[in-house]
Amino acid sequence: MNESFKALVVTETSAEVFTREITNRNISDLPQNDVLIRVHYSSLNYKDALSASGNRGVTRSYPHTPGIDASGIVVNCISGKFKAGDKVIVTGYDLGMNTPGGFGEYISVPSDWVVPLPEQLTIEESMMFGTAGFTAALSLYHLLRCGQSPSDGPVLITGATGGVGSLAVALMAHAGFEVIASTGKLSQYNYLYSLGAKTVIPREETDDKSNRALLRAKWAGAVDTVGGNTLATVIKACKMQGVVACCGNVQSPQLITTVFPFILNGITLAGINSADTPMQLRASIWKHLATVWKTDKLTDICRIVSLNELPDRIEDMLAGKITGRIVVKHDPDK
Ligand SMILES: NC(=O)c1ccc[n+]([C@@H]2O[C@H](COP(=O)([O-])OP(=O)(O)OC[C@H]3O[C@@H](n4cnc5c(N)ncnc54)[C@H](OP(=O)(O)O)[C@@H]3O)[C@@H](O)[C@H]2O)c1
Repeated sequence: MNESFKALVVTETSAEVFTREITNRNISDLPQNDVLIRVHYSSLNYKDALSASGNRGVTRSYPHTPGIDASGIVVNCISGKFKAGDKVIVTGYDLGMNTPGGFGEYISVPSDWVVPLPEQLTIEESMMFGTAGFTAALSLYHLLRCGQSPSDGPVLITGATGGVGSLAVALMAHAGFEVIASTGKLSQYNYLYSLGAKTVIPREETDDKSNRALLRAKWAGAVDTVGGNTLATVIKACKMQGVVACCGNVQSPQLITTVFPFILNGITLAGINSADTPMQLRASIWKHLATVWKTDKLTDICRIVSLNELPDRIEDMLAGKITGRIVVKHDPDK
């Protein structure tokens, strides 16, 4: 196939200077993988914003099309594992990192990255969840797997107005947990209450500077999207036998703590890696998102934008100005 399609392409114009533009690409430019997918929706995640600004920890070489999320329809599959017309989801693995991603109208990927769309989800809803929702759901799964239950007490979500944070608030509340949401955005308290948070606290309360090894217990568990001193604080102020899901590093990748929360309070730190989740668990998490964990807050959390609007929204994300999630709608009928 030699059809041309639109994609956001990030180019290094001179040393460490990167530009982003919507340009035409050819299907023959894509890597020759097993499955060719016409992408209908993608979404903007923090990792995409890093890839789109030249972060070599995410993307080694440019020009490159980011987009770690994609949902759409199979055009062809060489191995026969999928058939033309199948509705599918691809999130994580190498998509959008060093493999051209969902910010293009077509992707070509190995078939073992592809999840059949659960019948209870639309292609659009799957990207309203996207990697952010999948990560929030994986965090919920690990809290439950480690024995956490709503009767243990409230669960804290940090970076609560972000993509992972918003969906974690909505999913945890939907699952019956009392949610404490921590945010740096004073203007978004009502948004967090509307998603199901019972209490909203300022970011400073989860960024303790006292240097104490343990703090007064305030939550029974947590989903942390922030890392750094926030994660250290969250661990120190967790009740006995609490479980903390560690997802992100927007504040810092460093974690400076002592062993005391672990050996005196029995805290479990659960690492969350959405990108490399094994296929069986991956499919099961998507099934849960499509059924028992399906929140009715998706339209409150998500804003749908076109590919043309995406460069501005990437700037907003890098400036910390986004609340909720940005979903990218391609034009499948063109
Ligand atoms: N482990 C995984 O598999 C996985 C998957 C997806 C994402 N992630 C990671 O999770 C994190 C969040 O991703 P996202 O896509 O949700 O990003 P996002 O939409 O940009 O949300 C990040 C949120 O963090 C808070 N924040 C920003 N800068 C901060 C700072 N300096 N100190 C404290 N809080 C700050 C803000 O929330 P408030 O204004 O409400 O405080 C912001 O909305 C990223 O580090 C991302 O790489 C990990």
